Parts: sequence; structure tokens; C-alpha cells
Amino acid sequence: MMIDEKPWGGRFNEPTNKLVEEFTASIEFDKRLCQYDIEGSIAHCMMLARQGIISGEEEKKIVAGLKDVLRDIEAGEITFSLDLEDIHMVIEKTLVDRIGKTGEKLHTGRSRNDQISLDIRLYLRDEINRITGLIMALKSSILAAAKKEIDTILPGYTHLQKAQPVLLSHYLLAYREMLDRDEERLKECCRRVNVMPLGSAALAGTRLPIDREYVAELLKFPKVTTNSIDTVSDRDFVAEFIFDAGLLMMHMSRFCEDIIIWSSGEFGFVEISDSFTTGSSIMPQKKNPDVAELIRGKTGRVYGNLIAILTVMKGIPMSYNRDMQEDKEPLFDTVDTVKGCLHVLSEMIGNLKFNRKRMLEEAARGFSTATDVADYLVMKGVPFRESHRITGHLVRYCLEKNKVLSALSIEELRQFYAGFDEEIYRCLTVENSVNSKKSYGGTARESVLKRIEELGD
Ligand code: ARG
Repeated sequence: MMIDEKPWGGRFNEPTNKLVEEFTASIEFDKRLCQYDIEGSIAHCMMLARQGIISGEEEKKIVAGLKDVLRDIEAGEITFSLDLEDIHMVIEKTLVDRIGKTGEKLHTGRSRNDQISLDIRLYLRDEINRITGLIMALKSSILAAAKKEIDTILPGYTHLQKAQPVLLSHYLLAYREMLDRDEERLKECCRRVNVMPLGSAALAGTRLPIDREYVAELLKFPKVTTNSIDTVSDRDFVAEFIFDAGLLMMHMSRFCEDIIIWSSGEFGFVEISDSFTTGSSIMPQKKNPDVAELIRGKTGRVYGNLIAILTVMKGIPMSYNRDMQEDKEPLFDTVDTVKGCLHVLSEMIGNLKFNRKRMLEEAARGFSTATDVADYLVMKGVPFRESHRITGHLVRYCLEKNKVLSALSIEELRQFYAGFDEEIYRCLTVENSVNSKKSYGGTARESVLKRIEELGD
């Protein structure tokens, strides 16, 4: 391409070095913004006509031309050549090639600096919507599993050491709470994405009599940005989105980590169906939780994207700088990764078979009801620190005698505290232990059922 044919080529004598063309081009990845770029251009063009900056005839020609370009891009009929740098220039050049000089009026009163901000905002607004839809689907899968497992008891852990028996439903619903917060955070982030930047032009605004509010109305933005310099140099909303996505990935990763541990032979709490596992090329007996592992791994990748955008932005002077073109790959990769993980995880949950018997057996082991003994003593009037000590002595005694707490006779118990009565044996079963946790937000069956009811679905 001759240098004069480039939209910015007027002041140049020499053609762009091929290497520079390749190095600066973003078309390979920003082509995914084409729909939004055209949507934004149509709104911009309608505003220019309404303000009398271009004529109604010109508006019609440009809008029709842009729609044709979009149709042809979607049909794969347009080749994206590197010498046109980015999606904005490809679309504009194609338009001008097709409708002639009128097409050259489209870029009036705007710059690629505010245009790219608009494109990303339109794109991200849509994607956040899709992602929250996928979060809702995942939440439904979790709720369905929680309903099914309302009678399943498993050991709850702290420090990966057996702590207290809990309901599997309660455990699963813990993940649902995290996802509620993720959904809320993304919607909150969307409020900041959903602000219309166009009309800031390169950085200063424009002398042309544009109407930014009208563009916002056409593109369904509730407000417009208020400072043109900030507008073209702001990528906070990208960083914020990637952070929110990172946290969401972290939650999925922790769920996957549980599934990975639980599906090991050592735990044997869950079996993932054949259709959601893979084998080993050398060890014939293997069935691996690769889906869960990949979600865990991809979490690292999203964190990398967050660090990338924060680092790109941290040292650039006001206002727009080309560094900011580096925002797109981390953003797109985050969107793709999060969507893929949410989708596959929702499906995987329906493919888990929990081993209820094994969970229950393990829940009873490891003195998991020791806290219930301490609480029983508290109800008898013993100060908690003392009851903790008495129970600790009981556990030590059991370890020495190789016994479990429920196997101790009342006489043995009374050697540690004279007031023990038969009621203690009721406290020692895992079912009673679970169902006694009636404090708000606790694991008692009736509390969990109430929460399930509140959650509806
Ligand atoms: N491709 C550029 C980006 O992604 C678009 C804005 C270019 N602006 C400019 N003055 N070169 O940031």
C-alpha cells in the first residue's frame, strides 16, 4: 500500500517499514471487535447527520455501507491486511473503497483513541452479560447437587485435618455464596464499563458541535464520560474486569482442587464419570481429573493477564499511548478462559458421583465430634477453656487406649468429669453433631434446607 493511502499517511514521505507494519498491527486480534466498531460508527454517523455536520444523504450512504462491510466481514469475505494496522482502519478503508469520498466523512470529530475505548466497552458489556449468565447456570448446577446431597455427611476440614462433620449440601452451597459475590462484582464492574467515551476525540474533545448524549442514547449507555483526557487514557475497567474474573477463577480453582483430592484413591469421596476424565498413555489403570486440573491451571493464566494489564498501564504518561494496545490480548484471553471454565465446570458437576458411604465413615473418624463434647460440658456449666482441656484429655486417653470417643463407658468418662450422663452419647454421633449446628448459617439440616428454600430455583 502507498503511504498516501493510509488514513494517516499525508505527512509522510517514505513508506512504513514492513517490519514496523507487522510489529504495530493489532488486526490479528482486534478483528473480534468488528461488530462493535461498526455499531459505534453507525451511531456516530447518525449523530453527525442530526447535528448537521454531514447531510442526511451522506448518512444513509455511510450507514448502508457500514452494514454491508459488517455482513461481508461476518461472511469471511474481507481479508484483513496488516498494512491497515487495526480494525478501525480496515473498516474505514473498506467503506471508502466501496462508497467513495463520502466514506471519508465518517471519522469526523472522533479519533481512534476514543473509538477503541468505545469498542472495548461495548464488547465487554456484552461479554459480562454472557459471563453472568454462565455464572447463574453454574449456580443452578451447584444448587441441584446440594438438594440431592441433603442427607450426605462428610468430614469438614481445616488445615486439611479432619475438623467437624458437615453436610455436603452446606459445603457445596459455600461455593454458591462465592459465585453470588462474583456475579455481584461483575455487575458492579459493568456499571463502570457502561459509560460512553466517544467524543473525547484524541484527548482534548472537539470544536465540532457533536452531541455525545445522543450517541450514548443510541448505544444504550446510561451516561457519558466526563473528562476527555481521562477517557482516552483509562483502562481501569479492563483491569477491574480481569481482577473480578481472577477471583471467579480462584473460586472455581478451589472447587476443582477439592474434586481432585476427593477423587484420589486415598479419599475416594467422589467419582468423576468417564466422560469427564481422561486416561494415561502409559498407565492403563489411570483415570485422571484433567478437566478440574486445567481449570486450576488456567486460573494462573488469568492472574497473569491481570499482572500484564496493571504493568502495561503503570508507567505511561497522560494520555493515550500505544502501549495501551496491549490491553486486548489479556482481556480477550480472560473472557475466553473464564467462559470456557464456567461452562465445563457446570457440566462436570452433573457428572460427579459422591460416595456417601465413604464420606460418612470418614466423618466419624478422627475425633470429629470432640468439639461437641466440649460444647456439651459448657451446657453443663463448665467454662469453655476447662471443657476444652477435659475433652483434650479424653482424646489423649482414647489415643493411648486405641479407642473412639463413643466407645468409652460412662465410668471411664466420669474419671475426667464427674457430671457426665448418658446424654453425651447422643452428642457423639455425626448426625446429631451436624444437626445441632443450628446457629444462623450453620450446617444443621434444617438450616441448610431453609437456605435452599430461600435460594429458590
Ligand atoms: N489499535 C489501537 C489500540 O488498540 C487503536 C488506537 C490507536 N490510536 C493511535 N493513535 N494509534 O489501542
